Amino acid sequence: MNQPIRIALIGTGMISHRHMKVWSHIPEVTVVAAADIDERALKAFGAQYGIGEENLYTDFRQMLKRDDFTAVDVCVHNNLHAPVCLAVMKAGFDCYDEKPMSASYFDSKLIYDCARVTGKKLAVQISSMFSGQTLVAKKVIDAGKLGEVYHARVCASLWRRRPHADRDAAACSAAFQDRAMAGHGALIDTGIYHIGQMLYLLGLPELDTVLGQTCQRLPVGGPAWADSRHYARLRPMGVDEMGIGFAKFKGGLTLEVCEANASNIPDMGSSFITGTQGGLEYTMSDAFGGDWSMGMPPFGQLPEFLQPTLKFYGHDDLGFAVTVDYRPYENQQDLKYYDPEMMQWFDNQLHWYNYLIGKLTDETRYNTPLIALNTSLLAEGIVLSGERGGSITAEEIRAESKSIAMWHQETPWGVFDYDSTF
Ligand SMILES: NC(=O)c1ccc[n+]([C@@H]2O[C@H](COP(=O)([O-])OP(=O)(O)OC[C@H]3O[C@@H](n4cnc5c(N)ncnc54)[C@H](O)[C@@H]3O)[C@@H](O)[C@H]2O)c1
Repeated sequence: MNQPIRIALIGTGMISHRHMKVWSHIPEVTVVAAADIDERALKAFGAQYGIGEENLYTDFRQMLKRDDFTAVDVCVHNNLHAPVCLAVMKAGFDCYDEKPMSASYFDSKLIYDCARVTGKKLAVQISSMFSGQTLVAKKVIDAGKLGEVYHARVCASLWRRRPHADRDAAACSAAFQDRAMAGHGALIDTGIYHIGQMLYLLGLPELDTVLGQTCQRLPVGGPAWADSRHYARLRPMGVDEMGIGFAKFKGGLTLEVCEANASNIPDMGSSFITGTQGGLEYTMSDAFGGDWSMGMPPFGQLPEFLQPTLKFYGHDDLGFAVTVDYRPYENQQDLKYYDPEMMQWFDNQLHWYNYLIGKLTDETRYNTPLIALNTSLLAEGIVLSGERGGSITAEEIRAESKSIAMWHQETPWGVFDYDSTF
């Protein structure tokens, strides 16, 4: 790992700082320029990370005219992912797309196809892929320990299963709850992590039919969320706080999705995979962007919600029931931090860097664009099924999905018109 890469970053809001924490762990990567329509945020970002004013842009399209960097980290709101990623790749840069790939299947497909047409190296941030849980579950499944897998479930994050309105709303910018900017809520926020990880572990099965519903029923109140005295006058979220779905795949495999940013039930159970020989239960199925991005202290001090674990239920050679409680973090702590070969499977951005320099290839890397595209298809199926009031086939989702991206954006610097063709 010694090939320098110069990159630029678009969108200097909340998540960009976590990305910068990770870049600081990879000395070969230098962020040489940044763009944001919010000049104040942009200047503060430049000052914090030592990027001079001459390298800061309020119009990212001007920045893309430069030729002294090769890749761009995209950290804008959901419904700008497609317009910005397309502009980035069409301008000749490799692209890292913060999650969700996009808020609709149609827009995700545009990003996916644009990467194929331009030949640019695209990655989508799916931090749940980069956990010991994923590595171990994959090994268990590949070793045939579950037999034939026939059913699975993904469910909401434990830290959000609170009998209160959405906690995140207080921490994130208004765009998080704004339908025009975010598109949807829980389903494509935390949901994409759980669904993406599960679809990968199930071998990206081909979707057949989806029945689902999204809903927005609970009030939310920013910093007052926990104060029941204010509960009655809290305003509703602009996006769904819950997404429920049932998917059938070709061949008969089934998957339940139960995703919520908030609900009046403290525990919705756990995610699991069950097969003819054994089962895997995920405990703490959360992933927060990886340890590096969270600026975590050395292992052992990680809070419990950052330590996704697994339980295997099966049989020994004599047919007796066995349960194995596996805590990847406890077992791999030394390896993970000090062995770069291992760390590339524990961090999104290092993974992308290794892909950029050719150490990981299309064959060996996690194909996050394809995983994210499949995730988008299923999530969109849940949305469209709810709208039509009945089940929907994969073909119908592909046909009915529409762009909800922001192709004309009003900014303090005039209207930015984006081009969806490539
Ligand atoms: N990985 C995670 O855990 C995590 C957490 C929160 C958000 N996210 C994702 O990160 C993305 C950004 O969310 P956020 O919380 O950082 O939002 P944010 O509002 O804090 O930041 C977004 C930034 O993009 C800027 N922007 C808007 N239009 C722009 C344009 N045309 N050019 C340049 N900059 C532009 C905004 O001014 C803002 O500063 C979202 O897609 C969200 O889903 C991920």
